Amino acid sequence: MQFEQRLAMTVASVIGLALMGGQLAACGGDDGDGGPPGIDGLCDGGAAPANYPLATGYVEIPLGTTCPDVVDAELWVNGCTFLEWQQITCGFEGVTLNQVYVDDGYGGGYQDAETTPDTGYFVAGDPVDVCAYEGVFYLPPNHAVCGRPLLRDGAMVLANIQPGPSGWPAGAPAVCSELSEDERALVADYWMDCATMEHASVASFSHFALDLMRLGAPPELLRGAHHAALDEIEHARLCFGLASGYHGQPLGPGPLPAGPVVGSGSLVEVAEALVREGCIGETLAAVDAAARLAVAKDTSVRAALEIILKDESAHAALAWRSLKWILTLDTDGAVRERLTQVFFEERQRWTSIPEQDASFPSAVLAHGLLETSSRAHDLSRAWREVIEPSWAALAASPKATAFQA
Ligand SMILES: [Fe+2]
Ligand SMILES: [Fe+2]
Repeated sequence: MQFEQRLAMTVASVIGLALMGGQLAACGGDDGDGGPPGIDGLCDGGAAPANYPLATGYVEIPLGTTCPDVVDAELWVNGCTFLEWQQITCGFEGVTLNQVYVDDGYGGGYQDAETTPDTGYFVAGDPVDVCAYEGVFYLPPNHAVCGRPLLRDGAMVLANIQPGPSGWPAGAPAVCSELSEDERALVADYWMDCATMEHASVASFSHFALDLMRLGAPPELLRGAHHAALDEIEHARLCFGLASGYHGQPLGPGPLPAGPVVGSGSLVEVAEALVREGCIGETLAAVDAAARLAVAKDTSVRAALEIILKDESAHAALAWRSLKWILTLDTDGAVRERLTQVFFEERQRWTSIPEQDASFPSAVLAHGLLETSSRAHDLSRAWREVIEPSWAALAASPKATAFQA
């Protein structure tokens, strides 16, 4: 079975199941208690409330110095992540000496300073020792999965929001006067996050197109990457339109922060970024859009989600075709070996189901938001039914077969 068939079957099922389950919501429902869940006691093994995982964070220190005590450790996370540290550091995990932060344009991580060449461009800062700690983080339950993130130094690069006429908002504004003020703010924030990510995805696809050219990709893939960048402009416009309506004023993006994003990564690094952001990220984005579409009632939200679902499905298919082509360049098996590890690492993240969020206000379902655990169920299905078998089929394919789009 082809990737496109697997995805279409799961998307149809996600939409169908939600409709049968009677999850459609009307405006103005249960407010929930609205309060943040308690996170005390998590370090001591307390039950984690929905959206508050324990995870590893880092502190950089000058070479040869001592890691700060747990209580003083101010953590940060790197890589493609939405985690926000909650000012709670639980315990020290270890220190890795003499590291540099290497940014491949999609994200990055620490590498050994002695074996990493200093390009002066992709190595950020001087060598440091890196202390790792376990801490309490917040993972926004409705964090947008909107195409490829644009990353630099491990952090997402996003434009600031600017109020006022900008030409960006598109589509009819959503209508739901029965939302409470808090619910409306929740919905507005979600669509604003989505809008800035879709906006940044335009630059991310430009970056991807340059990587494809650098590797000598065929025209079908280049055409797909540029087409996808145009799609992302429309996604951004639709999301800015929704965000503006819920916020009650026109909103658009400011300038995207300038800086180097054009990569010079190895074949393995480009393949890894493609898998994390395209093959996995955009497949999940398509199923995520399907799950939102299944419960959304607002006409404008539904119109935006229908376009996003169609386009993200195409972007995901492009990513898998691009991976198929990259594997034809993998003459020594290094790409396959690394990607097997990447799929293993990502599996845990996308197949674990958090507890149901009892404070989730059901009224916002009609406006495209999802409760954490129900969303996780759908993304887990996407992993098992689409991503895992697609990678298994590719990994089992003969090495260096001729590429056919
Ligand atoms: Fe998008
Ligand atoms: Fe996309």
